[in-house]
Amino acid sequence: MKSPQPIYISAIGCYVPTKIVSNNDLAQSVDTSDEWIHSHTGIRERRIAKPEEQCSDLAVNAALDLFAKSNRKREEIDGIIVATATADHYGFPSTACIVAEKLGIKGAAAFDIGAGCTGFIYALEIARGMIMSGSMTKALVFGSEKLSEVVNWKDRNTCVLFGDGAGCVLLERTEEPKGIIDSTLHAEGAGSLALAITKDTKTITMEGRAVYAFAVRAIGDTVLELLTRNDLTIEDITWIVPHQANHRIIAACSKRYGFDPTMFYLNIERYANTSAASIPIALAEMEEGGLLKSGQKILFVGFGAGLTYGGTLIQW
Ligand code: ACO
Repeated sequence: MKSPQPIYISAIGCYVPTKIVSNNDLAQSVDTSDEWIHSHTGIRERRIAKPEEQCSDLAVNAALDLFAKSNRKREEIDGIIVATATADHYGFPSTACIVAEKLGIKGAAAFDIGAGCTGFIYALEIARGMIMSGSMTKALVFGSEKLSEVVNWKDRNTCVLFGDGAGCVLLERTEEPKGIIDSTLHAEGAGSLALAITKDTKTITMEGRAVYAFAVRAIGDTVLELLTRNDLTIEDITWIVPHQANHRIIAACSKRYGFDPTMFYLNIERYANTSAASIPIALAEMEEGGLLKSGQKILFVGFGAGLTYGGTLIQW
């Protein structure tokens, strides 16, 4: 949906657990190697949360980072949305309500959404719609994941791919000509079992090749859809911030669609795939590194379980 009024990201925060698990560490417990993992995925290491650290704790730490880096106050927040596949509790209460309580935010609307690795893109669009409708004014939008809890650490096909972490942004109105320009959300339920955490397995199962083919197409089609309907070309875009799943997916997509691979911001080497958290963690790093500049047009692109995909076009 195109934005009739400017709504922008006014602050960003992130948190990753301190414990680093390298590919070589994993090679001690499953039949794999740093060479295989890095050459097939781009990953060197991932962060793993402590047993007592829950999804909400990761999110709270990301929010504390956001408040520390901005002049926003937690009393101003009237909306909290957490995109996650690894909520503190099965069913309820929602992680968003726990985050509100831990942050001491009273009375804000708070709920979780589940759209796999596309969760942050979905949550951002929900928050934007609610701000447009007037039901929120300042929304904290999180991607937060403790994937280490749902990984089968004996399955080398999947356990090497994932990590823990959280990122968040503050979304609000502005009078300036900047912010979210357009957004698109999609799902292909026919592929729902290609990437799943089911009641039977309670751990991530994945058809790697099928997900790979879907991901290449999902990124490329999302970029083209947002460019076309906003009369833009790829040359108008400074950065594409993709969900961080696998550097080979980005390379294959760039080749097939003719995108410059250096437009994609990648940090998968250090954090692996943190699902819904990967885009806001990347944004926090980009802001810290001075890569986000006023006037730039930036595309966020998510894809993942569902199979869901979608994107956000934003002017910084
Ligand atoms: N270490 C060593 N060997 C491995 C490992 C490992 N960690 N994992 C798989 N292998 C082996 C397989 O057993 C297989 O051996 P075999 O030929 O003897 O049977 C061989 O490597 C090739 O396996 P493939 O699955 O064909 O490997 P592929 O080149 O397709 O790479 C991968 C696997 C990296 C998972 C790839 O399919 C992929 O990137 N898929 C996309 C899925 C993805 O990124 N998922 C992340 C979550 S989804 C998301 O975020 C959207």
